[in-house]
Amino acid sequence: MINRERYKATDLPALVKADRVHRDLFVDPAVFDIEMEQIYHRTWVYVGHESEIRNPGDFKTTTIGTEPVILSRDQKGQLHVMVNACRHRGVTLCHQDKGNSKFFVCAYHGWVFDGTGSLVNVPEVAGQPPQFSTDDFGLIKTPQVESYRGFVFASFNVDVPPLVDHLGEAAQFIDMFADLSPSGSVDLSSGVTRYQYTGNWKQQVENSMDGYHPAITHHSFFEDVLMDRIGKSMAFIVSGDSPAKSVALGNGHSLIDFRDFDRKAILGADKPKSELDWHAGVRANLTDQEYAEEVIRVNGGDGFNLLVYPNLVLINNQVRVIHPVTFDHTEVFAYPALLENVADEINVARVRAHEDFYGPASFGAPDDIEMFKRQWHGLSRSPSMQWLLYDRGSHREQQEGPVRSSHVSDETAHRGIWRRWRELISAQERT
Ligand code: FES
Ligand SMILES: [Fe+2]
Repeated sequence: MINRERYKATDLPALVKADRVHRDLFVDPAVFDIEMEQIYHRTWVYVGHESEIRNPGDFKTTTIGTEPVILSRDQKGQLHVMVNACRHRGVTLCHQDKGNSKFFVCAYHGWVFDGTGSLVNVPEVAGQPPQFSTDDFGLIKTPQVESYRGFVFASFNVDVPPLVDHLGEAAQFIDMFADLSPSGSVDLSSGVTRYQYTGNWKQQVENSMDGYHPAITHHSFFEDVLMDRIGKSMAFIVSGDSPAKSVALGNGHSLIDFRDFDRKAILGADKPKSELDWHAGVRANLTDQEYAEEVIRVNGGDGFNLLVYPNLVLINNQVRVIHPVTFDHTEVFAYPALLENVADEINVARVRAHEDFYGPASFGAPDDIEMFKRQWHGLSRSPSMQWLLYDRGSHREQQEGPVRSSHVSDETAHRGIWRRWRELISAQERT
């Protein structure tokens, strides 16, 4: 049970200051439980992409915080997000990662639910008392499910603001990511790289928006792998007088913004036919040609890394989804984002780039995971070190409307993430 007494006096929001955050917010299991209620049950959470469930009857299983859910497309094409627990006695209904089925049958006593979550059959139903009605025992569903450019979000909060309001400034970057595909939608159905670490979910959230670490943590990737692949280390994009930025977009969403780099000048303008055809497809799909050129120039996730708070990251060729498991255990799913209506070699190159950085034999993610483990080792055993520092760039932050930005190696994005954390944690009475 949640140890709320502990926090009556200390007041969790007070543990987030403008330039520092208390270690308890990472290492205390009671904080984790409160986060699952106040963040994962109160705001929009990413649950999957429409390309993973294209056909009637398709489903995938995932989580909202720690709560297991099924994302399904019913026989009429409607999306549903339902808690993956039988209404009889709570047995997990569906054990597959994804599949296609008209029904979900509980393995314990055989109750049958359809793709909308309705209870459609109860074995030996005469044994239920007369007042029993199957209408009362459909699966628990999130009251809110919405899709934006194929990215499906759900919320347990009936009063959550509309998804587009929640996305706010982040929506334009989801647009650019999707519009790099000539169909206007990426395809996440090719598979997933999974990794896990001993540590808190917020470590991966912060790391995804951390422009300070790559040149150090990923030194071998820049100096060996990229030198080998493209003849340039590219470390300069996150160091020195780089024009790249750390950006807080509002609502916790954030960006590492590389759009000011002229990638053509860096990587050369010569393109194979498949790339020219791909770009022609992008132009043909979009009415605003100025915007089309910007989409091509920025090249989706190469031009920015986007965090859609709390659990979705669009980064390079990849969609990263963060799953909190316990306060000290986190799983991360990384999906290669393929493009539709392009030559196979374009997507093969995207998968190869994904493999270069992610997975057990890759050159990027293992470095980050090692840092998460060392950070956890230090943080969780050192109560004498109470505060973590988030002050980089606070003296050179620029603000325009809700958006704040500064140098890529600054912690502007992180301060935005923590402002949102504090807002959500203190938003409503904890029940
Ligand atoms: S627990 Fe599912 S039918 Fe009994
Ligand atoms: Fe990293």
